[in-house]
Amino acid sequence: MESIKFTGKKYYTITYGCQMNESDTERINGQLEALGYTPANVMDEADIVILNTCSIRQNAEEKVYGKIGEVKKLKEKKDGVLLGIAGCMAQESKKKLIERMPIIDFVIGPYHIHDLKDIVTARNAEGAHVVLTKMNPQRVKDYSELTASRKSNIFAWVPIMQGCNKFCTYCIVPYVRGRETSRPISDVLKEVKQLAKDGYKEITLLGQNVNSYGLDFRNGTDFSDLIKALDTVDGIERIRYMTSHPRDMTFEMVDAIAESPKVVTQMHLPVQHGSNEMLKKMNRGYTIEHYFELFDYVKKKIPDVVVTTDLITGFPGETEEMHKETLEILKRARFDSAYTFIYSPRKGTPAARMTDTVPSDIQHRRLNEIMELQNKISLEINKEMEGKTFQVIVEGPTKQNKDNWFGRTSGNKMIMFPYREGLKIGQTLDVTVETAQTWILKGKEKI
Ligand code: 5AD
Ligand code: SF4
Repeated sequence: MESIKFTGKKYYTITYGCQMNESDTERINGQLEALGYTPANVMDEADIVILNTCSIRQNAEEKVYGKIGEVKKLKEKKDGVLLGIAGCMAQESKKKLIERMPIIDFVIGPYHIHDLKDIVTARNAEGAHVVLTKMNPQRVKDYSELTASRKSNIFAWVPIMQGCNKFCTYCIVPYVRGRETSRPISDVLKEVKQLAKDGYKEITLLGQNVNSYGLDFRNGTDFSDLIKALDTVDGIERIRYMTSHPRDMTFEMVDAIAESPKVVTQMHLPVQHGSNEMLKKMNRGYTIEHYFELFDYVKKKIPDVVVTTDLITGFPGETEEMHKETLEILKRARFDSAYTFIYSPRKGTPAARMTDTVPSDIQHRRLNEIMELQNKISLEINKEMEGKTFQVIVEGPTKQNKDNWFGRTSGNKMIMFPYREGLKIGQTLDVTVETAQTWILKGKEKI
């Protein structure tokens, strides 16, 4: 179908969930801009609203339902507004979404950003409701066809694979993102070279499980090969990557990361729980002993590495003893930070059928105990940074105060410092930390 230009019309997209969704939204925006839409500053100005949704936990879904209610009001006030639901909830609920809420014009799963231009064109011409949720791995290979409208001109998301084959018993991701499929090294390399030419300094390689990168090619390619290829791109100063899986991260990959001059000193390595019994019931595929073997190797090979983690509390069958094991591993690992989530049953997953559930008040109490301990550790670690100097890439003014700017270290710690004339977004700067807090550091430029 030939594209029709919608000059003068405005779009408004909202992203829920992970960085992969942030990246997908940039490609969604790219498709809308190719049709002539321009970004709206507020939702009320928009002619099309797209919610790029997440279904990882119940509360992520509830936020979307709330927003759909707001769009309904907008549609009542203004004729011709289109509402599209994209992302993981779209993939999960498919046409049920439109059956329940007929104000939705179209539903597209993560494999259908390619179809957006055609759908929007048809729907604007009074077409029928559209639901596209077929999983087509070729679309991951053809990702380069989708131009992204990127938020930053210094930092860029670069998806390298999509999907997950691990089937942790609590997790919806394998059902909504499909099987692990990688983009060819040559495509990723081409995209990164172009980013470097366009002046980008930092890239973040994205995948539900980056350590499985390339395994689907079945020719011996893995994540280490990708890193070695990307290391050669002049102009790119930092390479981040997320998320890692303790079962698939090999010691060779840690070596490749350690040896790379560009890959950052940060690793997000979700442990999920401190009890082997829980890990088994979650189908994580490793033991705590294995986790620490890998963790210790990472700490040894990558000096000053910042390791962060994810934890789930209140999983079915979790006893007080098992919860204490989680607290113990936090003391042993001393992660720089940990993202802790109360277990949320996801329909269709094996864990949702488990009956030995943990009462909500106990889940909340355990969450608080974990967070309290971790916050104390995070602050202690950050305090050790006081008086030391770190190189940051300048990101710009903080939201609260335009006279305070901030940047991130290689380890992804945010440091705030006073603005001075001549400071430029994207430049590297040496900053000495003066005061440390749990989530942010304050310092000043080293002269
Ligand atoms: N309930 C709570 N947390 C979950 N996560 C994934 N699925 C669930 C669930 N059903 C957490 C895991 C994962 C992070 C992205 O979200 O900790 O690493
Ligand atoms: Fe949420 Fe997972 Fe989908 Fe990302 S991949 S949007 S975390 S459900």
